[in-house]
Amino acid sequence: MTLAALKSKCLVRTIELGRSIVFALRFCGRPIRIHSSSWVAYRSVVRVCGGGTITIGRNCAIHPFSMLLTYGGDIRIGDNCSVNPFSIIYGMGGTVIGDGVRIAAHTVIVSANHNLATDELPLYLAGVTKKGIQIDDNVWIGAGVRILDGVRIGKNTIIGAGSVVNRSLPANATAVGVPAKAIKLRDPEGTNARRE
Ligand SMILES: CC(C)(COP(=O)(O)OP(=O)(O)OC[C@H]1O[C@@H](n2cnc3c(N)ncnc32)[C@H](O)[C@@H]1OP(=O)(O)O)[C@@H](O)C(=O)NCCC(=O)NCCS
Repeated sequence: MTLAALKSKCLVRTIELGRSIVFALRFCGRPIRIHSSSWVAYRSVVRVCGGGTITIGRNCAIHPFSMLLTYGGDIRIGDNCSVNPFSIIYGMGGTVIGDGVRIAAHTVIVSANHNLATDELPLYLAGVTKKGIQIDDNVWIGAGVRILDGVRIGKNTIIGAGSVVNRSLPANATAVGVPAKAIKLRDPEGTNARRE
């Protein structure tokens, strides 16, 4: 190993050690596990409220003003993911995000729905349904996307900016719109093909 490589390895180790200490102080006593190679901006909110857990893998970036809030469910984020500013991820029914998932600014991922109010029972007492959300590896979520409860997004799929995902989407698709529909499916060679 060259001296330069050794120095850079030492620097990485030092940064990771520093992060381990910061995470231990910031999330002390809470069920939050974040790999020390990941960056969690000071001005982001990573909070366990009403139960649940948060797990963040390696080399992730949780940007300022993003919020991860469990509300009783688990939030699991794999390796090499980014959560950009002003995005909100709720745990509720469980939100599982694979590896290499990039979440653009102002995205909201909400894994629950309110039950409907009746004349006898107001909305806030009617309870919620929770199914959970799964986002597979290498999904790119454009700015301002909303992902609703009960959906699974297949791997390598792209969601266009501003889309509302209320149904599951296949792998290797490009999906846009409200509600989001797959307009392209990439073929096995990796090129784009317009969907009929
Ligand atoms: C979806 C996207 C990736 C483009 O993918 P693409 O395969 O190149 O798609 P095209 O530009 O060929 O558009 C295909 C069709 O979808 C429509 N479309 C594209 N993006 C759309 C969107 N976000 N919402 C609704 N329709 C959209 C196009 O108008 C076009 O419709 P048409 O065939 O009727 O003209 C891009 O439009 C997008 O939304 N990118 C997200 C950018 C972003 O949020 N970046 C954040 C920083 S990480």
